[in-house]
Amino acid sequence: GLPDRVTIWEVGPRDGLQNESEVVPVATKLEFLDRLADAGGTVLEATSFVHPKWVPQLADAEELLAGLVKRPGVTYPVLVPNERGLERALRAGVDHVAIFASATETFARRNLNRSLDEQFAMFDPVVSRAKAEGLRVRGYVSMCFGDPWEGAVARDQVVGVGKRLLDMGCDQLSLGDTIGVATPGQVTALLAGFDDVDRLAVHFHDTYGQALANTLAALQAGVRTVDSSAGGLGGCPYAESATGNLATEDLVWMLDGLGVRHGVDLDKLADTSAWMAERLGRPSPSRVVRALRG
Ligand code: HMG
Ligand code: MG
Repeated sequence: GLPDRVTIWEVGPRDGLQNESEVVPVATKLEFLDRLADAGGTVLEATSFVHPKWVPQLADAEELLAGLVKRPGVTYPVLVPNERGLERALRAGVDHVAIFASATETFARRNLNRSLDEQFAMFDPVVSRAKAEGLRVRGYVSMCFGDPWEGAVARDQVVGVGKRLLDMGCDQLSLGDTIGVATPGQVTALLAGFDDVDRLAVHFHDTYGQALANTLAALQAGVRTVDSSAGGLGGCPYAESATGNLATEDLVWMLDGLGVRHGVDLDKLADTSAWMAERLGRPSPSRVVRALRG
């Protein structure tokens, strides 16, 4: 069966904008976040406290948080890779952070400058300190299905990395198809590798047009938190061949059709994505945005 209600974890301001070739002005980012909240978004992943040289697009994280007027009932998680990132995030007053691990050796090195094993040593003190400070902690696992350098990724390897993050104290795991190669049967198989589906979220990129089918498979397996990005913005600057995330509008269209509640106003959201597409100077890749606003 399907859940009655799904939490949409909006990653556009982070996963979307981290991949733009031009840096989006902080005022535009703040307006984007406000519009997403107006459209009913309740989890808005706002930015990353990563090394500014690695992701210059999000180097304004302090300025963004200082300018953000937080809405009641909305949480604004941020990515932090290490203790330095957590310190910055704590000073900026965040209450929800996400660490981001790789299921593969190559991507751990390329994205984190660490080996697969070393990444856990980097994350461990981050999770302990964050929990001690009363923050909520999400753990991402990237390259859960395929890796551009290593090819297919073994399910046991992904489950092993995910369980280490849960054991470390992460409240939730988000399983990422960073390059968008998964198909629904693989999603069902991966989810079955975890005992507790309640703590799982899914994060699909739409490179091969499978993100919505994969999401449906995850919902049928009991997942109730789905990551998506307004207008289908996104990608990862350190992963070749990663395109945008599942578009939030495409997700909302499907959930509405299925009668699954989510709280997002499609009309306001599509307006927001059309507005952002204008700022970025290119049309949204979302089929639903194009159908509604094209
Ligand atoms: P490193 O170069 O190994 O860092 O980078 P280090 O620990 O050796 O430190 C070197 C210097 O950087 C030090 O300064 C640190 O203080 C400074 P120095 O003492 O030499 O003057 N430094 C920092 N400064 C500011 N903020 C920080 C920070 N950390 C160190 N947080 C590091 C290691 C992890 C920092 C780097 O590799 C990094 O920033 N990587 C981030 C890459 C990234 O953001 N990728 C995109 C997000 S992941 C994604 O998109 C996938 C996802 O969507 C899921 C999916 O789709 O699968 C989540
Ligand atoms: Mg991603």
